[in-house]
Amino acid sequence: MTKPPESTVPAHPTLALLQQRVSHPRLNDPGPTQPQLAELYAAALRAPDHAWLRPWRFIEVSGDDRARLGEWMASSALSDDPEIPDKKRQKLLNSPMRAPLVLIAWAKITKHPKVPAIEQVLATGAAVTNLINAAHALGIGAVWRTGAPAYSPALKQALGMAEQDHLVGFIYLGTPAGEDKPIPDLNPADYVSQLPE
Ligand SMILES: Cc1cc2nc3c(=O)[nH]c(=O)nc-3n(C[C@H](O)[C@H](O)[C@H](O)COP(=O)(O)O)c2cc1C
Repeated sequence: MTKPPESTVPAHPTLALLQQRVSHPRLNDPGPTQPQLAELYAAALRAPDHAWLRPWRFIEVSGDDRARLGEWMASSALSDDPEIPDKKRQKLLNSPMRAPLVLIAWAKITKHPKVPAIEQVLATGAAVTNLINAAHALGIGAVWRTGAPAYSPALKQALGMAEQDHLVGFIYLGTPAGEDKPIPDLNPADYVSQLPE
């Protein structure tokens, strides 16, 4: 595919932020302040949302609660799979400690004649994306993770989620450690096409 022509659109600060976001897998203290978090949620809550069902939910996990979440992740993994290797269980135990704040993003699914569950999960994913971009705008590092715990029926139950609800991700937030990764050089033409004949 050939590269698209150079843009003739003037640089825009919001677009520059959106186009330059990267994930931050290594995050240190401090986490977001309460006023910063309020800004992140305000952005998340402006995600597109079919029939205004507001499916998104966020559980804040910080401080000692992170160890408790790690214990729940490890014990849920064991109850979902009694054969789980000990090394994997240990990794789960420690995983929430990788950032000062972990937001568990989940979709509370409502039965609706026009809005299937997948659209409610998509809306929650859009809310997470808004939140991560807002974090980037404020210089807060973020990374969206899932892994087996996101699909663990036992963990969902421990978190008070119903069977039909979906755990969309664990959003790790904090102060970026080290240099930003380079922005990958992706060509939109590789992902865009016209209607087939
Ligand atoms: C739904 C979802 C789940 C993800 N789960 C993980 C995960 O469990 N572990 C991980 O390292 N990255 C995961 N990622 C990818 C990272 O969030 C990140 O996008 C990736 O490392 C690429 O970095 P970038 O966002 O800077 O391009 C997930 C992304 C999405 C959208």
